[in-house]
Amino acid sequence: MPAIQDIGVDLGTSHILIYMRGRGIVLREPAVVAVDRDLNRVVAMGEDAHRLIGRTPGNIQAIRPLRQGAILDYDLVKALLTDMIGKVTGKHRLARPRAVLSVPSGVNDMEKRSIIGMMFDAGMRRTQMLERPIAAALGVGMRFDEAYGSMIVDIGAGITDVAVLSMNEVSVGASLPVGGDYLDDAVIRFLRKKHNLLVGERTAEEIKITLGSAVPPLAGESMEVTGRNLVSGLPKTQRVTATEIYEALKEPVDDLIEAIQAVLERTPPQLAADIFDEGIVLTGGGAALPGLADAVYDGLKIPCAVADDPQTSVVMGCGRALEDTPIMRSLLDDSRRRWRR
Ligand SMILES: Nc1ncnc2c1ncn2[C@@H]1O[C@H](COP(=O)(O)OP(=O)(O)OP(=O)(O)O)[C@@H](O)[C@H]1O
Ligand SMILES: [Mg+2]
Repeated sequence: MPAIQDIGVDLGTSHILIYMRGRGIVLREPAVVAVDRDLNRVVAMGEDAHRLIGRTPGNIQAIRPLRQGAILDYDLVKALLTDMIGKVTGKHRLARPRAVLSVPSGVNDMEKRSIIGMMFDAGMRRTQMLERPIAAALGVGMRFDEAYGSMIVDIGAGITDVAVLSMNEVSVGASLPVGGDYLDDAVIRFLRKKHNLLVGERTAEEIKITLGSAVPPLAGESMEVTGRNLVSGLPKTQRVTATEIYEALKEPVDDLIEAIQAVLERTPPQLAADIFDEGIVLTGGGAALPGLADAVYDGLKIPCAVADDPQTSVVMGCGRALEDTPIMRSLLDDSRRRWRR
């Protein structure tokens, strides 16, 4: 193992991913912490905590400490970061490594400073922040150092970042709470209204991943869903079809496309023309929804492609930034001067 374990971290609202220099992605776990409310103590983190969601006894609560791009609980974010970083760097480090970190776009400067403090406490010598859309673009190998417009849309769980990049920076951008969670909520509302069936967030996400599509599904796929009958209060099993879930997702998918359109409307005409030529790249786990690129094309008449393995684009970009070429250096928000504690 190398003596200095520089890392790239994508701290997302649903997952945390860590890239280690020279090794690639070494960790990917849900950003979840399980807390025992009676003892006020953390009992599990990451994958272990995720397993407890929806099936925990009353006193144990599984919490996502980041939600819609904001920090809900500092102590839990800190516990999660420390634990996950400890897992990959080990306890006995020879030197303090450097980190490149991407956090949800809604996180403000004060919150960023405290996250950098948490990284320091977790053993990092120096942490540099990379803006989310820039990280995603670097991760997919997009070039954006010239006076030419490129569009990247990172669809996470909590936040979708829409950005036009040019000359190494975000020229026009927006961060909206229109991500995977928003789609899950639409599934929950649909099942409640159509079938009087109440399901939890985790079930809604499973249904979305199994049956979801942004374009009308061809095959008549379906699955059995168990939830609670809202009328009787008893458990109920219901067969749900892909066509129904397509209907449930139509509105939130349209909202997402409108968000992209709104950014294009604010984009200088020359850069917009470049995007019409070159197309849009989708990253983030939400980009894995089948048919999403086609739906974007149908709505905007702009070519659209999904990145390979879209959930890893941001952390791959943080990893690339670790390579420290002059261009990367110019992109990074330096913490040494401004944020060193
Ligand atoms: N096949 C799929 N179809 C639809 N959605 C999917 C699929 N696979 C994953 N997702 C969704 O992707 C989201 C997670 O994506 P990702 O890991 O990129 O989010 P994140 O980085 O943690 O969140 P954020 O960027 O908002 O902080 C979840 O909402 C999940 O349901
Ligand atoms: Mg993300």
